[in-house]
Amino acid sequence: MLVNLQTIIGMAEEGNYCIPAFNVYNTETVMGIVEAAEQEKAPVIIQIYPRLLNEEVGFYICPAVVAAAQRASVPICFHLDHGPSEWEVTRALRWGCTGIMLDGSVHDFEKNVEMTKHVVETCKAIGIGVEGEIGHVGSVNDDAMDEFTSPEEAAAFVQQTGVTCLAVLVGNAHGHYKKPPKLDIARIKAIREATGGIPLVLHGGSGIPDEQVKAAIAAGIRKMNIGTDVCCAFAEGTKETLEDPNRSIAVDVFMKKAIARVKALAVEKIALTGAAGRAE
Ligand code: 13P
Repeated sequence: MLVNLQTIIGMAEEGNYCIPAFNVYNTETVMGIVEAAEQEKAPVIIQIYPRLLNEEVGFYICPAVVAAAQRASVPICFHLDHGPSEWEVTRALRWGCTGIMLDGSVHDFEKNVEMTKHVVETCKAIGIGVEGEIGHVGSVNDDAMDEFTSPEEAAAFVQQTGVTCLAVLVGNAHGHYKKPPKLDIARIKAIREATGGIPLVLHGGSGIPDEQVKAAIAAGIRKMNIGTDVCCAFAEGTKETLEDPNRSIAVDVFMKKAIARVKALAVEKIALTGAAGRAE
């Protein structure tokens, strides 16, 4: 069933686990993730980058996500990832998203608060929760990481914006880590405490060692984003098919291994985040 962000995050909060949030890029990645969620009886978030929310791609993929979520036997939230402004938020709502991230982390604190607060108010009118970000989570290719999220700033941000959940910078980055990251678990706990227990979001979930993910969840992470791993799983499945001398030329058959690889990855992350069996 298609659910909103606050419902699915509320499930994780109540059960002390984490919702895996998978970025999708095409219909096949959606298929692999929904198959995994149903098999494992897990609530999941399917999220989309704003660059895909256009007439060329969004026109096809968004209705597919909404239809898949509505038909699914488990709760699925369709979420906008890293919306940079209200333009993208409007597009996402038009395409059926039931969760919104407004990422104002590239701006100064006041501007970030102002933009996020406005989107929270708009989305509240239609019953949709908003994820904000404080402390900018960059790329593994950046020369240096920004300053980690300050618990005091996070507390002021949550109080002034009314976000449903909060993305934080605690040693994480987007992309494949060049060496394993070392998350600042004590800081995650401090942010949780300072904010009065706001559900926290860990971006850059591809390649964080399992033990650190578990410690981060114990400290208050309730949503973990996984994007690069989805792409790699899909690419590996395609490569495997290409190397098979007996492969079929029929495109639907050609895609089977790619979908299966994405499904296997999703099953693994559903187990890691503790989401398996939570939708029974
Ligand atoms: P990765 O691509 O590093 O998994 O990060 C995904 C993400 O955080 C999307 O917002």
